[in-house]
Amino acid sequence: MTNKPWMDQSLPALERAGLLVAAMTRGEKLTLVNGHIGAKAPGRTALPDGALGSAGYVPGVARLGIPAQQETDASLGVANLHDGEGATALPSGLALAASWDEALAEEAGRMIGAEAHAKGFNVMLAGGVNLTREPRCGRNFEYLGEDPLLAGVMAGASIRGVQSNGVVSTIKHFILNAQETGRMVLSAEIDEAALRESDLLAFQIGIERGAPGAVMSAYNRLNGAYCGEHDWLLNTVLKSDWGFDGYVMSDWGGCHSGAKAALAGLDQESGQELDREPFFRTLSDAIDAGEFPEARLDDMARRILVPLFRVGAMDAPEPKTSDIPRDAHLDVAQRAAEAGCVLLRNEGALPLDRKISSIALIGANANLGVLAGGGSSSVVPWGGYAREVRPPSETVWAKYLRQRWLPSSPLAALQAAAPNAQIQFCTGETIDEAARAATACEVAIIIAEQWTTEFLDVSDLSLSDNQDALIAAVAAANRNTVVVLITGGAVTMPWRDQVNAILAAWYPGARGAEAIAAILFGRAEPSGRLPLTFPASEADLPNPDLPGKDVAKGRFDVAYPEGADAGYRWFARENRAPLYPFGHGLSYTDFDFAELTAFGGDRLRATFKATNTGARRGAAVGQVYLVEAAGERVLRLIGWAKLDLASGETATAEIAADPRILGRYDPALPGWRAAPGFYRIALGASAGDLRLSASVHLTGLTLPP
Ligand code: BGC
Repeated sequence: MTNKPWMDQSLPALERAGLLVAAMTRGEKLTLVNGHIGAKAPGRTALPDGALGSAGYVPGVARLGIPAQQETDASLGVANLHDGEGATALPSGLALAASWDEALAEEAGRMIGAEAHAKGFNVMLAGGVNLTREPRCGRNFEYLGEDPLLAGVMAGASIRGVQSNGVVSTIKHFILNAQETGRMVLSAEIDEAALRESDLLAFQIGIERGAPGAVMSAYNRLNGAYCGEHDWLLNTVLKSDWGFDGYVMSDWGGCHSGAKAALAGLDQESGQELDREPFFRTLSDAIDAGEFPEARLDDMARRILVPLFRVGAMDAPEPKTSDIPRDAHLDVAQRAAEAGCVLLRNEGALPLDRKISSIALIGANANLGVLAGGGSSSVVPWGGYAREVRPPSETVWAKYLRQRWLPSSPLAALQAAAPNAQIQFCTGETIDEAARAATACEVAIIIAEQWTTEFLDVSDLSLSDNQDALIAAVAAANRNTVVVLITGGAVTMPWRDQVNAILAAWYPGARGAEAIAAILFGRAEPSGRLPLTFPASEADLPNPDLPGKDVAKGRFDVAYPEGADAGYRWFARENRAPLYPFGHGLSYTDFDFAELTAFGGDRLRATFKATNTGARRGAAVGQVYLVEAAGERVLRLIGWAKLDLASGETATAEIAADPRILGRYDPALPGWRAAPGFYRIALGASAGDLRLSASVHLTGLTLPP
């Protein structure tokens, strides 16, 4: 210890990192800021020495006890596996967000972080929190919906969970990587106030609550400049305004310069084999040429080391591999899937009776497994995929385009839930055959799928492969038709009013089918609420056409007519009725809300009561929205409470509004300003179902950025 004073665990992380940097040579510091692809890379036959074969690898410095950084994707479990043995796949981020359950998000993060740690990783590329602005974005499933408060709170919780394992988590992709089309070239055009009040606020809340060690910059440009070399974004907002003391890493292939990017705030070049050239290798020459201060290199190294100290990764330099309690972890995945299922419609078919005699089960893969989202977050499940469809070519990005089904069979799960039922399975390829099966059975269950993936957006929100026609025909044949949506996000539903029930299960993860069966048969209560709006049609979106879809090559700009008002706020502002509003979700019981009381002063608090007035247990999600702010009509979620209530039970909830959401961001201040005046809040079961309101006077306040 005496010759390694930074190993004194009683010192704060910042001080330990400072002591260590002082002992490092320039070459050693450069080692830390140059990241590599951790797996086989283009033109490379072997793994880098010591790499586990995953997304990223940064060699350590053995002399000083600095471990290699072994980086793995992502928010839904350990992806890109080196050992082929599998890992536990959580349901998609949208399912987690739909739980509106912070403790569950933390538990899920803890579970995937524990697997990362057990497999020898110490950096997890998790924490995806880009707001859903573009419902066609292929990556929405990885993220946490359209509201900055909900997404930020859930991201923070999940990151806390990951990092409780001695594993550094990122938060990503900073910022406005809202679509995949043109992600490497597009420029997101937005004004500062709108950005601060929306996407930046989601990151700000996620960082405050989760304290991630790293931020991953986005591929795209923001107002003209690449996010990975955006001085205002990285130096001013993140590091200065928010006081972030960890490091910024680039996305893979998203670094565009050496000294320029590092001066703008980028601390580590990731997977540099994917960049046009290994830019950060030029930093040494730039220092010699007097173009780059050595002090900034020290800062970069310190920023990378601080979180390694903070989470404990420096104190266990040899990654410890250990056994993973698979059943317990699969149980977490199943509970998350159950909590994330959103019952959109139920005209009485659900819950199903276990003594049901016959079921028509219809869906292309409903006998095999549940669909997963594609791309870098894709988790190889224990035992391998139930089905995998590969694209014809195998270029670097084509591996993101593999369609995969996890081995959790709806057919088997339904049969286990209703052992005496005759289940007639058909793929639905022949619509007549499906309709005949539906006619012959008590209930028809259709598993409808929409595949989305990183790298590609969907061209529109309708279900592919004639599934709309299939559903309409089955609904015409059986009044008890239940549609289970396994999708990357919102879809349109021309058949909505013809079916009896609709359950949004997102990509439900390793135990997805078991979770769906538990909800359908009422062994688990549906308690999920939409974390995003389901639009009635693309015509109602701020950008009715997918930006850049006709741009064959080259750069383009994306404007956001909604400004800060992503999702439901846009629909409210424009008086457009969605298909299903943000926050919507039914239960098998009913709730009454009462006694909404608002307390003013310089902050806003509210209390309310919820009573379960139905016959079954269930969870109420009381949502409090700001509907008027000092004379301005608005609609903004300011808090919620998820209350698990037995039949007849009443509970009281209290929420404290984040003062930033009460006001507006004023770049001239600079900071947040809530004007003095009357503020009206409303309590409801969704953004479209506000039931009680209360007014309160606020004295007004300003807050720093
Ligand atoms: C994705 C990141 C991911 C990285 C490493 C990129 O394509 O955008 O989210 O962490 O790859 O796999």
